[in-house]
Amino acid sequence: MRVDGVHRRTIWLDPDGWAVGIIDQTRLPHDFVTTRLETVDAAAHAIRAMLVRGAPLIGATAAYGMALAMRADPSDAGLAAARAGLLATRPTAVNLRWALDAVCAALAPQPPHARAAVAYAKAAAICDEDAAICEAIGDQGLAVFQGAWDAKGGRGTLNILTHCNAGWLATVDWGTALAPVYKAHDAGLPVHVWVDETRPRNQGAGLTAWELGRHGVPHTVIVDNAGGHLMQRGLVDLCITGTDRTTANGDVCNKIGTYLKALAAHDNGVPFHVALPSPTIDWTLTGDPSAIPIEERDAAEVTDITGRTRDGRIETVTVTPAGSPAGNYAFDVTPARLVTSLITERGVCPATPEGLAGLFPERSAA
Ligand code: MRU
Repeated sequence: MRVDGVHRRTIWLDPDGWAVGIIDQTRLPHDFVTTRLETVDAAAHAIRAMLVRGAPLIGATAAYGMALAMRADPSDAGLAAARAGLLATRPTAVNLRWALDAVCAALAPQPPHARAAVAYAKAAAICDEDAAICEAIGDQGLAVFQGAWDAKGGRGTLNILTHCNAGWLATVDWGTALAPVYKAHDAGLPVHVWVDETRPRNQGAGLTAWELGRHGVPHTVIVDNAGGHLMQRGLVDLCITGTDRTTANGDVCNKIGTYLKALAAHDNGVPFHVALPSPTIDWTLTGDPSAIPIEERDAAEVTDITGRTRDGRIETVTVTPAGSPAGNYAFDVTPARLVTSLITERGVCPATPEGLAGLFPERSAA
């Protein structure tokens, strides 16, 4: 997507041909800063500290992390250590494991001297594939939005609620849940997005609002608890979110608070769609979704909040009383029964085992 008229991806190979460039998302929305990753440890830190985040981008960064690792130590031991270190960075998004498995499968049969080149090529392919998949999700979702617009009589505004950031910043390009928003906006559908702020890290208020604003998409930031009220008042035509891990049954694990939004949507008869690239499907999970590891992050993300002061300084302040413990559960699972449809690069399906198997017969049979 474009930033100040320049087409950008969230991750790229530097002109020197070996270092990896990223947008430091911890600096958004107030500063647009790019940074270079030169080592596997820097890549792991970028994922862990959320300079990059969002399930597909975590996977892409890990893939380039393997390439950086292979420059330094392409031995079998180096390969295993890099994979283990990157895998341990964040537990919930399954794209991380998917990308590492894909790179390591390409590297394992290679002699050490050939591994760095193969890893760079595989990482680049994963990035290109993610951008293509997300654009296809945009086209599939556009048809869903067009249907909602027609059902509304083609009048007024199509009001869409989203949670967290599932836009191009969360992927290599286009985004998942926001790809159909961009496609619809560009096609002339009058879309307006309710943006959940998404405490504690404010990916909605900071990242989704920034993205939408740069693209000229009308939007309104709301506190996380406002969605139910808006739905009761008929001010939301549909919800759409991303997912960090989708089970083969169609349950979706996404940013904490997604489940509550799905419950409110169900109670109010508002369609609740989930957009996902196929690498987000964990085909090994066919039963109880409580097997999905739910990341628990630093309590300081809850007790403290960072923003820009009126005189332009970035500051962190504490909002809780000294000594009050805080819990920071980063994801929750929305059961498939609350999901109206899954929007994938191959098409739109019900959130059921049969729905997913119909779109991905080769994977579901594996
Ligand atoms: O903790 P984050 O910012 O990595 O969480 C991101 C999300 O929850 C997104 O909605 C998700 O990755 C799915 S779509 C890209």
